[in-house]
Amino acid sequence: VLKTLAALGLGYLLGSLNTAVIVGKIYGKDISSHGSKSAGLTNTLRVLGKSAAAFVLAGDILKGVIACLIGLRLGVYVYSGEARDCISLLAAGAGAVLGHNWPVYFGFKGGKGALTAVTVLFMLDWVMALICLGLFVMIVASTRYVSLGTIGATIFFLIISFIPVFGHGLYFHIFACLMALIIIFKHRSNIRRLLSGTENKLAF
Ligand code: G3P
Repeated sequence: VLKTLAALGLGYLLGSLNTAVIVGKIYGKDISSHGSKSAGLTNTLRVLGKSAAAFVLAGDILKGVIACLIGLRLGVYVYSGEARDCISLLAAGAGAVLGHNWPVYFGFKGGKGALTAVTVLFMLDWVMALICLGLFVMIVASTRYVSLGTIGATIFFLIISFIPVFGHGLYFHIFACLMALIIIFKHRSNIRRLLSGTENKLAF
């Protein structure tokens, strides 16, 4: 239990290093008061442009990977039925997403967690991550709504996470439900804008 809590805490502290906020500070713009006000990759691309977005992409992937490696290193495994979940990895990953969304260093004003969550998913189950990423790209390419892609891929992830062929256990299911809940909750303003037809489209 202690190791799992340590993984959650370390993941949270790492996730709180919200790259969009940091890059925003370097560019002299407070990301949480521009565009969609979200401290994430999409809004950085929208407000600060491609080079800033590239830093955010790299930074957020890096912190997600490091958090997961710490979780893996702590190596707490639990069996549920046939499945074996590394709960320290799940906890570190969940902590990273929570930290990204509600960063302790930046007044709890963060992003929506999609990039960090998909990075963590790559570390947990790269096949599932690739499938979800593929769906995300397809939705965004056909509608130009990043938020719709994220919401669609998140719901799809939640559904397929329960398919037995992936071989995940109870704790992975809990993790999947928690991630889906957090990401959808963070997209509530996007959902409102999508429904009223006022959501921002990705434009190059
Ligand atoms: O992952 C975030 C994306 O789905 C939406 O971002 O800035 O358009 O609210 P944003």
